[in-house]
Amino acid sequence: MARILITSAIPYINGIKHLGNLVGSQLPADLYARYMRARGNEVMFICATDEHGTPAELAAAKTGEPVEVYCARMHGVQAELAKGFRLSFDHFGRSSSARNHKLTQHFAGKLAENGFIAEVTEKQFYSVADGRFLPDRYIEGTCPNCGYEKARGDQCEHCTKQLDPTDLIEPRSAISGSTDLELRETKHLYLRQSALKGELEAWIDSKTDWPILTTSIAKKWLHEGEGLQDRGITRDLKWGVPVRKGEEDWPGMEGKVFYVWFDAPIEYIAATAEWADAHGHSDSEWERWWRTDKGAEDVRYVQFMGKDNVPFHTLSFPATIMGSREPWKLVDYIKSFNYLNYDGGQFSTSQGRGVFMDQALSILPSDYWRWWLLSHAPENSDSEFTWENFQAAVNKDLADVLGNFVSRVTKFCRSKFGEVVPEGDQLGEREALLMEELRTRIRAYEDHMAAMEIRKAAGELRAIWVAGNEYLQAAAPWTVVKENPAAAAAIVRLSLNLIRLYAVLSEPFIPDASAAMLAALGTEERSWPEEIQVALNVLPPGHAFTTPDVLFRKIADEEREEWQKKFAGVRT
Ligand code: 2FM
Ligand code: ZN
Repeated sequence: MARILITSAIPYINGIKHLGNLVGSQLPADLYARYMRARGNEVMFICATDEHGTPAELAAAKTGEPVEVYCARMHGVQAELAKGFRLSFDHFGRSSSARNHKLTQHFAGKLAENGFIAEVTEKQFYSVADGRFLPDRYIEGTCPNCGYEKARGDQCEHCTKQLDPTDLIEPRSAISGSTDLELRETKHLYLRQSALKGELEAWIDSKTDWPILTTSIAKKWLHEGEGLQDRGITRDLKWGVPVRKGEEDWPGMEGKVFYVWFDAPIEYIAATAEWADAHGHSDSEWERWWRTDKGAEDVRYVQFMGKDNVPFHTLSFPATIMGSREPWKLVDYIKSFNYLNYDGGQFSTSQGRGVFMDQALSILPSDYWRWWLLSHAPENSDSEFTWENFQAAVNKDLADVLGNFVSRVTKFCRSKFGEVVPEGDQLGEREALLMEELRTRIRAYEDHMAAMEIRKAAGELRAIWVAGNEYLQAAAPWTVVKENPAAAAAIVRLSLNLIRLYAVLSEPFIPDASAAMLAALGTEERSWPEEIQVALNVLPPGHAFTTPDVLFRKIADEEREEWQKKFAGVRT
């Protein structure tokens, strides 16, 4: 049994996330967490809301709520939706927690102590029209690297380059659009990433098993142009973690807060402490996941995120950890994702384009979405959601293949043998071949899941379902029963056991359907199929079951068209 720490990039608090956000971090992280638990490992799966920064302030201003109230409410909304999608976090924390305030200030103090913080008096954009200093994200302009015209002051969405607002060509306020910007003097703290460049580089070079998508982005920022730049980690804002040096005041930094990207990844640690607090555990319980001097040296730490988050997780956050010179756990593996597009364009939160988590659940249960999203995860390139593709995948994989198998087997058994696993004959050649195929495919499925090759894993799972269907079709118990009831009973017994096997194997992808299958079969036995022979004999003759309702319904063409129209516009 291994100990596996899993974090998903923490979603911004402002607004409900769309399906592209979901498939880029939280959902695949959940798949992995569920799989690793099913294999008997000890898992700590952490997520949180990313609550600081101007976006939160502005969103709260729009609703008229105090920002604390807004964040608490939206945390509740996001937590409910996470439940709706069956995201099995051990804890869903808040970056505004007292734990995160303390830890963020602690890291800043240690970094300063070790010489990795520079105090810089600099000129920053002040928007006369808006009457405030503008933080990076609230300045837009043209990217000096790629020419994208809507680059933000912290990062270009188009080429992923980390930016400073003064890098932008023709800067303007993203709040008012005003170009009446003045550079005014203000003091800020910088994280001296450049001083840690050698260490970061050696560390990244040691990660030979990381996906190309992850390492290529990291290496680009290490080597391109002038190389790794220092990063401003404070802002002239009210909402955030007040700048302090550990427990002490930081002279000259009064009234300032840490930059949201400085405290957000620290929340991975803080959220684990919040988990301990919520369960009445002592500090040692969360420290054994995070402190290599307190038990975390044998933890495997895996992070999930979209590609735009990679620079912060391969460079900035590791620089924070390394620069503390304390024994905190560094990430072992980063699984990053490309973008999911929506029907010929991009999903967009700001433009309200696409399907959002609440809307998705209002039209279909979470398993339908989980299956499509995961089996089409944008791993090696961007992928695209289309309603036609969604309908086809649901109707074929879930309804025709898996759902139909479950329904045919249970209904046939009920009509011929009653709702109980029948006694049967010896099994023959066909069954031996099926088992051989399952053995091979299950091992392949395990390998893909362990490697986080999500599409390949989904493909293998689908093939495992198909194998059962083809077996049933060829074995044709409905014909056999006329001449040889005992032989038909053997086929049915094996098939009922196959349903249980499917429930166990499919749980990481479609947990509700899995639970429904096990409930119908009247069993709680979910141990992983190490031995196929054993796994297909778990339900003995005489074991009672109930015929389940339809597991997955088909999506009709009219419905698809209706949804297509409904979600063609923009969400307001
Ligand atoms: O891109 C985002 O949605 C960010 N809120 C992710 C932060 S991940 C981490 F650093 F906490
Ligand atoms: Zn760019």
